[in-house]
Amino acid sequence: MKTIRNLKNINVHSKYVLLREDFNVQIVDGIITDTFRLDASLNTIKRLVNAGARVVICSHLGRPNGKRVPELSLRIVAEYLNIPFVDDCLRKDFLSNMKNGEVVLMENLRFYIGEEKNEKSFAKKLADGFDIYVNDAFAVSHRKAASIVAITKYLPSYAGDLLENEIQNLTNFLQNPKHPLVAFVGGAKIDTKINVLKKLVGIADKIVIGGAMGTTFNFALGLPVGNSLYEPEQARNVMKILKLAYKNNCEILLPIDKGVGEVFDKNTKRINRDAGQIKDDDVIMDDGKRTTQRNIDLLYTAKTVVWNGTFGLAEWGKKWGYSSFEFAKHLAHLSKAKKLKVIVGGGDTVAALDACGVRKDIAYVSTGGGAFLEFIEGKTLPGIKPLIIG
Ligand code: 3PG
Repeated sequence: MKTIRNLKNINVHSKYVLLREDFNVQIVDGIITDTFRLDASLNTIKRLVNAGARVVICSHLGRPNGKRVPELSLRIVAEYLNIPFVDDCLRKDFLSNMKNGEVVLMENLRFYIGEEKNEKSFAKKLADGFDIYVNDAFAVSHRKAASIVAITKYLPSYAGDLLENEIQNLTNFLQNPKHPLVAFVGGAKIDTKINVLKKLVGIADKIVIGGAMGTTFNFALGLPVGNSLYEPEQARNVMKILKLAYKNNCEILLPIDKGVGEVFDKNTKRINRDAGQIKDDDVIMDDGKRTTQRNIDLLYTAKTVVWNGTFGLAEWGKKWGYSSFEFAKHLAHLSKAKKLKVIVGGGDTVAALDACGVRKDIAYVSTGGGAFLEFIEGKTLPGIKPLIIG
């Protein structure tokens, strides 16, 4: 494993530390609906505070495209963390008043056009007044942004605890997984997961494809898919994955039945239908009951499981989240009992864990969405590269 410059032997006492976190949280009607990423950042913040650093946190929120968008202000996060807020990333006058062990949160980095453009001049201004930079924002480390990449040219740079923990867990999973390793991949968009699947066929014993992606796989194999969401243009990619899996002796399992409705509406009646019996008017909105049971049975045969992407419209609640929630409950049970090494990543998947209240029982839940997928693909993320020693 590559060695990362971390905070373990660094004296940060009375130093000005610019700490990059990923506080890109969902806010609905002025309320933070999920504090997972905020809570996950606390270890690094506490470590720096306890060591007497003067900590200034920066983050992005949403995609404001270089403009000030009041709804995307990070003030609400400062209130949640109960720390002072500075409404300008480039204002540094407050620094001279900071005492050792104090923490401040600055305004949304993406209110500045230079952030997403990875502009050196913006990074230089951002770095001004600081002694060291700490990247703890795993979830955005796949983006070439000024506060992630360019900044490392101007300040001695280190990985925070959250980032280091993600790197360790995911590297361990990729390099030394216990077999049998079963990967469960759902969600809708195949093109965002094609490279992950290519990587997984090389390390997993079995890959279970579910959700809308499972529908596309079934379509590519000539099964009926009715009036459902799927990606016909991805049929060639599906065949490539299947061939690659065959070469690598990795078994691919597809949905054998589906939960269907008459219309794309959460209130429509749910009917279970075999994958070969889907009717022209059927709208597939979840994996079926037999598929769910097969997936659960598979969990009991595995030693390592990675899960990314729900198997249906879990965001619509129990009826269409059936396959994801039942699966999540068994996954959590086995993870808690330490019978299984479990890695879960991706916003919707983590939301499904939350919807059935089992996230706390899963051994490892990544804070990353896109970053999680790119790391699994085997890419060295641009935000991690400058922190590698040697
Ligand atoms: C995420 O939520 O995955 C990260 O914060 C990155 O956000 P982005 O996709 O807007 O760059």
